Amino acid sequence: MNSNNNAWLKEHNTVHLMHPMQDPKALHENRPLIIQSGKGVHITDIDGRRFIDCQGGLWCVNAGYGRREIIDAVTRQMEELAYYSLFPGSTNAPAIALSQKLTEVAAEEGMVKASFGLGGSDAVESALKIARQYWKLEGQPDKVKFISLYNGYHGLNFGGMSACGGNAWKSSYEPLMPGFFQVESPHLYRNPFTNDPEELAEICAQILERQIEMQAPGTIAALIAEPVQGAGGVIVPPASYWPRLRQICDKYDILLIADEVITGLGRSGSLFGSRGWGVKPDIMCLAKGISSGYVPLSATLVNSRVAQAWERDAGFTSVYMHGYTYSGHPVSCAAALAAIDIVLDENLAENARVVGDYFLQKLLTLKEKHRAIGDVRGKGLMLAVELVKDRATKEPFGPADAYPLAISEACVSNGVMIRTIVNKLIISPPLTFTKEHVDEVVEVLDRAFVANPW
Ligand SMILES: Cc1ncc(COP(=O)(O)O)c(C=O)c1O
Repeated sequence: MNSNNNAWLKEHNTVHLMHPMQDPKALHENRPLIIQSGKGVHITDIDGRRFIDCQGGLWCVNAGYGRREIIDAVTRQMEELAYYSLFPGSTNAPAIALSQKLTEVAAEEGMVKASFGLGGSDAVESALKIARQYWKLEGQPDKVKFISLYNGYHGLNFGGMSACGGNAWKSSYEPLMPGFFQVESPHLYRNPFTNDPEELAEICAQILERQIEMQAPGTIAALIAEPVQGAGGVIVPPASYWPRLRQICDKYDILLIADEVITGLGRSGSLFGSRGWGVKPDIMCLAKGISSGYVPLSATLVNSRVAQAWERDAGFTSVYMHGYTYSGHPVSCAAALAAIDIVLDENLAENARVVGDYFLQKLLTLKEKHRAIGDVRGKGLMLAVELVKDRATKEPFGPADAYPLAISEACVSNGVMIRTIVNKLIISPPLTFTKEHVDEVVEVLDRAFVANPW
């Protein structure tokens, strides 16, 4: 083996390596870029081609690449203590410091405790288990079900996958967990009800209430939702929707879990997506931006209502019987402390809001010019360009249609790394993005549509 040999790497990429969410057969034909280095908002592949990273890795490199502060923090921590566990009998300083830091930055949401994992799927799994145990400790053991939204994405462990609101993520792995139910999400561009955002929010809120009543509130543990749906296609709910979710959860005594795996730490233009809607959830799931993707880490935060259940002497055991070898890994926690400081010190949430607004306006201008663009939407630096065969009917390009890939490949050829999810171009760059970067990307996108007229 010679992993420094480019031809060897290209040849062997699919031989022993299983790639997430891809058909291995298709990968033999469509070879992915092999990314070798990153600096700021740019990445470079093994052939020396440089790209603006419009994906931010996978919605995660909030602080940008090559940040000395994070690299030094990780190196120092590895030199001092590479690993120690939080299991009975020990703990470590970076995990203690990070739990304090997270409750400080999420004090406005009332968060008081953190449980650590390694990625978004862990954050969701922890949230679901915390919600079930909470109700047992509260003396209501029948409250075990979960409600989530169509188009919602909550990772691919069995619990989170069962909460996902899209069949494509689940069908190969059925049967799923019992007790999970999905309801309509307020998707303004694609819904059978109305074009009025606030009316749509109300209709979806009422559908949710009907589902809760049908299931019986006394059997429901929690509602889990993303403040802005990401992998489902960057679906931004109307402003009244999240406040309505909070009201409904209070009315029926159901916990509200905000899956902030993408929106947490600045991406949607406020430090947390829930904060952007003025809502305080009971449980928050964080990953991705928590460490800016430098090392694997997630956190599940809980408010005092939830945390206090473990403080009392209940009939059920109050042992928190959950966690992983690497929960609170000192190197990951040290990286996160440095990454969060960058987000705060450089006010990257505000930058995401300002540059994201500018990006959205520029993309709307592009929509005027190219009829394959059916919709443009986003909040902060999470945006989507949805491609359709016909604007009037909104007929989407399907998985077998080559057109969306032709657009993203034209972008890649011209130095912009952009991802497609079926018929959507997904934009989620580092939060250090500037208006000049936006201009560069929009020009490349424009040229891609001109070269591929529809
Ligand atoms: C909202 C949301 N929840 C959970 C996850 C799962 O995260 P991971 O892939 O790190 O397990 C993702 C991943 O994109 C996500 O977007």
